Amino acid sequence: MADYDKTDIPEHYTEARKLPPETIDMWMRALTDSLPAVTFRTVVDLGCGNGRFAVPLADWFKAEVVGVEPSDKMLAEAAANFTAPGVRYLRGSAEAIPLPDDCADLVFLSQVFHHINDMPKAMAEIARILKPCGALCIRNSTTETLETVLYLRFFPTARQANPAKLPTKQELVDAVTGNGFRVHRSTTVTQVFAEDHLRYADKVGLRSLSDLAAISDQEFEAGMELLREYCLKAPAHEPVTDDISLFVFTRDQALA
Ligand SMILES: C[S@@+](CC[C@H](N)C(=O)[O-])C[C@H]1O[C@@H](n2cnc3c(N)ncnc32)[C@H](O)[C@@H]1O
Repeated sequence: MADYDKTDIPEHYTEARKLPPETIDMWMRALTDSLPAVTFRTVVDLGCGNGRFAVPLADWFKAEVVGVEPSDKMLAEAAANFTAPGVRYLRGSAEAIPLPDDCADLVFLSQVFHHINDMPKAMAEIARILKPCGALCIRNSTTETLETVLYLRFFPTARQANPAKLPTKQELVDAVTGNGFRVHRSTTVTQVFAEDHLRYADKVGLRSLSDLAAISDQEFEAGMELLREYCLKAPAHEPVTDDISLFVFTRDQALA
């Protein structure tokens, strides 16, 4: 698995990945529009990172949220930044979820899918903890959404490496539907990642994106110089958006 504890990513993750409040609301509406119309009492935010979605999920769905995360550094960020009644965090991974069978109405994975090494094991674990009528929601970049990511224009090595790391939409669907799930909804969501270009450059400059953590310091600095130059010329209040794939799966057996 991608070991965030061996990187500096967690140090600035909260600031670098902070989404405008309107974007978080937009995601909660997108989830509501895509999920089956049932009550979600228990939500597992699997690979919750710093918990940036855990609190909104608890508020929006009036649910108990359990964030499961393998990285101690990310769990420390969650404890420091995203706590609320009804939200708790546990150390664990998709391949070993520290929760009982049939306990979750919704399992939510945001930008975690491409970090999972043992997909069959993870899918078996997700199926184990999910109630028969539960839903699995995956929010992830895919190779199809890469063209919409502004910073990648300035970091060629990261751009070239990404297709090998990210799934295509079809690969993601195949990996999940081969494990007793069917597609309930598949869509692409355009999100505002930063309110304006200067804030965008600042966020990217914190280097808390795993593809930028993987390139050389020299290439990172060179890319940042070009990105800053580009952002300085952009209209002052123009937001920066990118696309993210959103999938909702339900269990095959829920058909019966
Ligand atoms: C890009 S971050 C996403 C965090 C959070 N879900 C979000 O949207 O901000 C990826 C997270 O996946 C976690 N991760 C890596 N491998 C994992 C695995 N096998 N199971 C669960 N989480 C994993 C990392 O520790 C990291 O916190």
